[in-house]
Amino acid sequence: MLKSSLHLPCGLLLKNRLAKSAMSDSLANGKGDSTPAQAKLYERWAKGGIGLSIVGEVQGDARYPEKPGNLVFHDASHQKALQTLVKKATVNGAHIWAQLGHAGALSHPPISQPVGPSALDVSGIQCRGLLVNEVQQLPKMYAKTALFAKNVGFGGVQIHAAHGFLLSQFLSPLFNSRQDNYGGSIEARSSIIIDIINEVRKTVGPRFPIGIKINSSDMLEGGLTEADALEFVRILDGTSVDLIEISGGTYFPGTKSSSDGGGGGPYFLGFAEQARGATNIPLMLTGGFKYHQQAADALASGHVDIVGLARALVVEPNVANLWLAKDPSDPSYPSFESTPQGGITAWYTMRISALSQGYEDDFALSPADALAIYEQRDKLRCVPWLKRFNQ
Ligand SMILES: Cc1cc2nc3c(=O)[nH]c(=O)nc-3n(C[C@H](O)[C@H](O)[C@H](O)COP(=O)(O)O)c2cc1C
Repeated sequence: MLKSSLHLPCGLLLKNRLAKSAMSDSLANGKGDSTPAQAKLYERWAKGGIGLSIVGEVQGDARYPEKPGNLVFHDASHQKALQTLVKKATVNGAHIWAQLGHAGALSHPPISQPVGPSALDVSGIQCRGLLVNEVQQLPKMYAKTALFAKNVGFGGVQIHAAHGFLLSQFLSPLFNSRQDNYGGSIEARSSIIIDIINEVRKTVGPRFPIGIKINSSDMLEGGLTEADALEFVRILDGTSVDLIEISGGTYFPGTKSSSDGGGGGPYFLGFAEQARGATNIPLMLTGGFKYHQQAADALASGHVDIVGLARALVVEPNVANLWLAKDPSDPSYPSFESTPQGGITAWYTMRISALSQGYEDDFALSPADALAIYEQRDKLRCVPWLKRFNQ
C-alpha cells in the first residue's frame, strides 16, 4: 500500500502514500524570503522518497505570522528563491504544497498585534476580536496567496485550520464567542473556512490541489470536540477540497501540542475511522507515526489514504525510502526526559536547521538548550522582519 499511487479529486497523481506534514521550519531569512538552506532541506526530503511535502506556515498577511522565520507571499517576495525551492523540492517526482497560515490570536507578539475571532485576555494570549469586515476580507487574502503559490510553481496549497491558529480558532468555542454569523453552531463557526475554500477554488481553478489540515480535537477543555470535528468533516465533504489532513492538539499556554508530545503513536486513528464514514475525500493522518508497521497498518485499515510524517522526517530525512524498500527498516528515535514546555518542538526545529546545512551528525543539543537558541534566533530575526514589513 505504501508504494501505491493516489489520484486526488482534482486529478493530481501522488506517487506514494507518504507525505511530509507541514512544519514551520524557521528557514526563511527573517524577511519572509526562502533561503538556499530551505531549498536544500526540501531536496533532501524529496530524495528521501516522500510523495508530497507541505511547507508549514506560509503567510499571506505579514501582520499575523506564527514566527519570524515564516515565508511570506506578497508582491515583493523574492520569487527566484521560491522557484529554486520548488525546483529542488520536486526532484524524484515529489510534489510541494504551501500551507496557507494566519496565526490569529497566536501571532508572534513581538512582530504582531494579534487578532482572533473574539477578544481574548488570558495568561499568555491577548488579542482583539476581528471586525466583521475583516473576517469578510479573509477569503480574498487566502485566494490571493494561493494564486501566488500557483504562479510561482507550487503544486498545491493546504489551508491551515489546525493546531490553534486562526481558522482553528474560529472552530473552537474557546476562542470563538462571536454572536454574529461566524459564531455559535459548528456550521456557523466553520462558515468562514468554507467561504475561504470556495474563494480559493474559484481563483486557482478546478485542477489545482487544495488540501486542509484540521484537528480531530483541540485536546483542550472548552475547545473543538471530536463530535464537532466530525461534523466539520461532513461539512467539508460538500466542498471541493482534495485532501483532508487529520491531526490534533493546540499550541496554547500550559498545554502539550502534538509536536511536543512524546507518547506512543499513532494518534487519531479512531477519528480517522469515523471520518472515513463521513466523507469520500482522501484522508491523510498525521501524528505519532514512527515505524513502518504503523504506517502499513494504518493504510491497510482502509481508513487512511496517506500517512503524514513530521518528526520522523527530522530524525531521518530518508525514512520514506527505508519504509518503501523491499526489506523495510526503521530509524532509531531520541527519547527525552523532563523537557521544558516547547522544548521538544524547539529541539526538532533546531535539528531541521542542522539537516538543512548537513551537520545533523554533530547535532547534540538538549531540548532546553535548543529552546534557548531557538528563542534567541527568533528574537534576532524580529529586527529584519519589522524593517521589511514596516511595522
Ligand atoms: C518543528 C515542528 C514544526 C511544526 N510546524 C507546523 C506547522 O507549521 N503547521 C502545522 O500544521 N503543523 C506543524 N507541526 C505539527 C506537525 O505537522 C504534526 O502535526 C505533529 O508534529 C505530529 O506529527 P509527528 O508525530 O509526525 O511529528 C510542526 C511540528 C514540528 C515538530
